[in-house]
Amino acid sequence: MRSLLFISISLVSGTLASGFPDLSTRSQTLAACHQISSVISASQVFFPPSDGYISDNKHALVSSSEPSACSVEPGSTQDVGRILQILGNSSTPFGVKSGGHTGNPGFSSTHGVQISLARFNTFKVNTKAKTVELGPSLAWDDVYRRLAPYGVNVIGGRIPGIGVGGLTLGGGYSFQTSQYGLAIDNVVAFELVLPNGTVATVTEANHDLWFALRGGGNNFGIVTKFTFKSFPQGNVWGGAIQYTPGQLDAVKAATAEFGKVTDTKAALITTFVYTPEGVSSAALVFYNAPNPPSGMFDAFLNISILPNDVAADRSFPDFIKAVSVADPPGQRGSFCGFPVTNYSLEFLDAIADQISYWGKNLTALDPNVFVAADAELLDRTVFSHGAPSAYPPDRSLVYFPSILSFTWPNSTLDKTIFHAQRKIANRLRVAALKDGQDVKRAAVYPNYALFDTPLEDMYGKNVPRLRRLKRAFDPKNVMGLTGGFKF
Ligand SMILES: Cc1cc2nc3c(=O)[nH]c(=O)nc-3n(C[C@H](O)[C@H](O)[C@H](O)COP(=O)(O)OP(=O)(O)OC[C@H]3O[C@@H](n4cnc5c(N)ncnc54)[C@H](O)[C@@H]3O)c2cc1C
Ligand SMILES: *[C@@H]1O[C@H](CO)[C@@H](O)[C@H](O)[C@H]1NC(C)=O
Ligand SMILES: *[C@@H]1O[C@H](CO)[C@@H](O)[C@H](O)[C@H]1NC(C)=O
Ligand SMILES: *[C@@H]1O[C@H](CO)[C@@H](O)[C@H](O)[C@H]1NC(C)=O
Ligand SMILES: *[C@@H]1O[C@H](CO)[C@@H](O)[C@H](O)[C@H]1NC(C)=O
Ligand SMILES: *[C@@H]1O[C@H](CO)[C@@H](O)[C@H](O)[C@H]1NC(C)=O
Ligand SMILES: *[C@@H]1O[C@H](CO)[C@@H](O)[C@H](O)[C@H]1NC(C)=O
Repeated sequence: MRSLLFISISLVSGTLASGFPDLSTRSQTLAACHQISSVISASQVFFPPSDGYISDNKHALVSSSEPSACSVEPGSTQDVGRILQILGNSSTPFGVKSGGHTGNPGFSSTHGVQISLARFNTFKVNTKAKTVELGPSLAWDDVYRRLAPYGVNVIGGRIPGIGVGGLTLGGGYSFQTSQYGLAIDNVVAFELVLPNGTVATVTEANHDLWFALRGGGNNFGIVTKFTFKSFPQGNVWGGAIQYTPGQLDAVKAATAEFGKVTDTKAALITTFVYTPEGVSSAALVFYNAPNPPSGMFDAFLNISILPNDVAADRSFPDFIKAVSVADPPGQRGSFCGFPVTNYSLEFLDAIADQISYWGKNLTALDPNVFVAADAELLDRTVFSHGAPSAYPPDRSLVYFPSILSFTWPNSTLDKTIFHAQRKIANRLRVAALKDGQDVKRAAVYPNYALFDTPLEDMYGKNVPRLRRLKRAFDPKNVMGLTGGFKF
């Protein structure tokens, strides 16, 4: 019932957002749907209002959902190849969805053919090789839960529901990134269907594609399987702590002080959220051992007055459950990244001030607007764990991803909110420069970037090479028929 409601809302909002394609385009798209039906062997095409169509089109946020003409769930790499050839030959727009958690309109949704990777859900633990094979449509929390009995883990997302596919192809920050690097630093092979339909296995030996796929999103084809390095995982310490607006100064001070921690087993995300009573905050605290070194998180624990769920010696899946937030049903949403090189007290003041000002400003238009920002504290060695990749463009620099995360119910506010996010990101850049931070060369994390972020802001000096590779591997620009950041 709820999913039906979700689709009818997104049908309406999709129409408002970009208008329906005209009838002749619509019938060409339907022709492509039927052509796909006729060539596939291990796959299935769905039309509205079937359950398959509804689940294939479902996204975490209404603003990144659109009503497609049909959906297809490919079940073999050969079928993915055939589907890409049909879509390419007929210039039919399409969407590629794994976990469906992008915030950007049209990045994994479409008015054309929705490809859902639901059937690419491989889960295979190779104990001897110390690797794990994962299908792109698996959710990270599911992966962690299923790996726990083996006593191993992989580097992936922090919040339940996020897909293996989109998170990994954008870079991938985890609670263990300070210790082991980004998700892309822990991939050993990609199974890739190239834009011309050819199936390839991409490893370090494939110099160019190896570089391009690690951070380059959906520009180079559709990934149907990732092979990740695995590492031993014991019990951990951590959880979520909520604070009242009255504790804001203490939380900022504790966060700034935490910037001095150089223990790579530790992780911290401090969140600032607008409330009519002021800016409230929360800390997600993590240590990759049953207990942290004495005193490391005391500043956060000592000021905790609301009930918290921090626990020692808990399993990794149990910790992930404790820090989970549900997808907000029926909400629109957008993210906007702002890289920083130091979470100083002055800079944390600037973040909280922006959340306070814009929270008040936007909730005056609709009290249901949710306005939040995350500071993500990582070790300064964060980019030392991998070879050059599309993102981050320069591993010799150090910067941390930070994110503005807003949700709202009504499409009439879309433009106002995108505008506000751009304005805040600009203000915070100015504040960072004033704080002495070297953010001129810091790259925005593609998975946190607003849809109109210039390529140079995310991929820096890599843009010319990525454009060349894109032309070489996708001369007919098949992947240009789907949304996302395009080289
Ligand atoms: C609540 C929440 C928490 C988050 N937490 C984190 C976090 O801890 N760390 C982090 O790094 N990021 C985080 N993110 C950002 C996240 O990485 C991105 O939203 C990511 O795009 C989600 O991947 P997905 O597979 O769920 O999304 P989708 O919407 O399915 O895909 C996103 C993009 O990737 C492309 N894509 C997906 N799969 C494939 C594939 N197999 N082949 C080719 N292209 C593909 C899609 O076409 C689309 O352009 C979070 C986002 C949310 C909403
Ligand atoms: C797509 O076009 C190419 C030639 O451009 C052709 O070789 C191929 O068979 C076509 N594929 C389909 C599925 O139509
Ligand atoms: C936290 O409280 C403990 C016990 O009361 C105390 O020993 C410690 O100094 C406090 N730490 C901080 C950072 O406030
Ligand atoms: C970050 O800022 C703090 C002051 O808030 C300062 O002590 C520290 O040296 C800075 N660190 C770096 C690496 O710039
Ligand atoms: C919100 O900010 C805009 C400027 O971006 C301004 O025009 C408007 O008056 C503000 N509204 C409120 C209620 O503060
Ligand atoms: C969205 O806002 C418009 C204009 O303020 C209003 O007419 C409409 O009823 C609202 N829609 C919803 C779903 O709240
Ligand atoms: C498909 O593209 C790859 C990579 O560019 C190339 O090696 C291969 O020959 C192409 N296949 C066909 C059938 O054109």
